[in-house]
Amino acid sequence: MTVSPCVNGVSANGDRVLIIGATGFMGQFVAQASLDSGKPTYVLLRSFPSCLLKAKATKAFEDQGAIILFGAMENEELMEKILKDHEIDIVISASVPAY
Ligand SMILES: NC(=O)c1ccc[n+]([C@@H]2O[C@H](COP(=O)([O-])OP(=O)(O)OC[C@H]3O[C@@H](n4cnc5c(N)ncnc54)[C@H](OP(=O)(O)O)[C@@H]3O)[C@@H](O)[C@H]2O)c1
Repeated sequence: MTVSPCVNGVSANGDRVLIIGATGFMGQFVAQASLDSGKPTYVLLRSFPSCLLKAKATKAFEDQGAIILFGAMENEELMEKILKDHEIDIVISASVPAY
């Protein structure tokens, strides 16, 4: 799991957080913690989950105010656009890198 960037280890509550892998085992805890902390929380999904449990988790995040975005983290152009358009301050990846 990677976290970036963290300015001086401190972030204000208004920081916008983008979470990659939020439907995963670890990512669900991370996304919930971000929402619980009151930070504007964005979730990047490759597609809407077909798995019922992941779909329920996604809906629950959305109901708590998370913004759901679609795309692959490997798409550099898209990632740059997301970071810029949504003024994302913090990116947390709880995804499993493909080897
Ligand atoms: N599980 C543990 O006990 C544990 C403990 C310590 C550390 N970790 C680390 O935590 C990280 C996550 O592990 P996990 O067990 O939570 O994995 P996981 O349950 O398999 O979840 C992986 C998540 O990453 C997403 N993902 C995978 N490839 C992606 C891509 N190319 N673009 C965007 N999203 C992608 C998956 O989305 P889809 O639903 O689309 O597949 C899923 O939401 C790993 O780095 C692991 O080493 C895990």
